Amino acid sequence: MSDEAHRELPVSRRDVICGGGASVFSATIAALVGGTRAARAEAVSGSVPEVDALAVRVVTDSYQFAVAPSRTVEGVEIQHFGWGIGDKPPGRTLISEFGLSLHIESHRGAEARNILVDFGFTPEALVNNSELLGINPTVLDALVLSHGHYDHFGGLVGFLQRYKGKLKPKLPLYVGGEDCFCSREWTAPPQRGNFGSLDRKALQGANLTVTYADGPSLVADHGFTTGQIGLQSFEKLLSPTAMKVGVDHGLGCYADKLPEQERTKTVVPDQFRHEIATGFNLKGRGLVVLTSCSHRGVINAIKQAQVASGVKKLHAVIGGFHLAPYKEDYVQQTVAALKDMNVDYVIPLHCTGEPFYEIAKIEMPNKLLRSYTGTRFVFGA
Ligand SMILES: [Fe+2]
Repeated sequence: MSDEAHRELPVSRRDVICGGGASVFSATIAALVGGTRAARAEAVSGSVPEVDALAVRVVTDSYQFAVAPSRTVEGVEIQHFGWGIGDKPPGRTLISEFGLSLHIESHRGAEARNILVDFGFTPEALVNNSELLGINPTVLDALVLSHGHYDHFGGLVGFLQRYKGKLKPKLPLYVGGEDCFCSREWTAPPQRGNFGSLDRKALQGANLTVTYADGPSLVADHGFTTGQIGLQSFEKLLSPTAMKVGVDHGLGCYADKLPEQERTKTVVPDQFRHEIATGFNLKGRGLVVLTSCSHRGVINAIKQAQVASGVKKLHAVIGGFHLAPYKEDYVQQTVAALKDMNVDYVIPLHCTGEPFYEIAKIEMPNKLLRSYTGTRFVFGA
């Protein structure tokens, strides 16, 4: 573990909210970073908003089961997606891939908000699936990128190009920090290789506002992002990628925006300082936490969401839990920690892996909900 990671422990709510000195209400600061319109996110001040209802749609994930029956459990309607057929013969179907994208619709009184969290591996899947699932890009209020891995941002640029001129002007794209833009190399099994980087010029061309949310931040008035996820549990950071420091032909991350000890290096191990989880505070139920990929640990991500929001009660955790590299006892420990946290529902996606599902099915059968590409979870319905 790096010195940087050691320094982060422990994190208190006061630390994260007041980290910028007296600026509890952080103003949006417009600036240009490498020619891209950039802003600082609005910090969480006091408590996060409560929403009355929340629907989370899995737009892209690894697998679909078109004939899975939809059902309702206490407080959650689980709507699986079938074929997407109508009065014409079928033409296309949902595309599944190893990538993650989630659409979230929230309601607060008469007010509705729509956000996309992550964008899958390819624009073909993201565009195809969002069209089949009836997601209207023109009403999106914010985009959130959980971290700088290709299986989460790969679909973004093509999506922006497909809907150029149709998205809301200056639509905010929340990122956890500059290292989100670093060019990456995959260093873990099954093979080393170029893992790409997010094209800043394309973001500029799409009239987005890149919004830096390194601390707890409000998203589209209804949700929040956690800011940097502290290492506050038994969970370890096992990094599968390395980051190149610097910008080459407009691609990469600006060295002067990275921590001092990394600025003079050419390649550094990815510490996922920039990784963020997204959360909502559902009235009468508690937090719904979207972990995306959990490189800093699913339990750590949940704890950070609790610290960021000031809300302890957990209703659901949904996302990739990144347990594939770990042995069974570590997965058992994660399941035990989730039981201790008394979360109502656990919805594993993407990089969680089958061992977690099998163990959780035995240990917490009534809490575990199965999801496929296209599944929609309606909370507080
Ligand atoms: Fe991932």
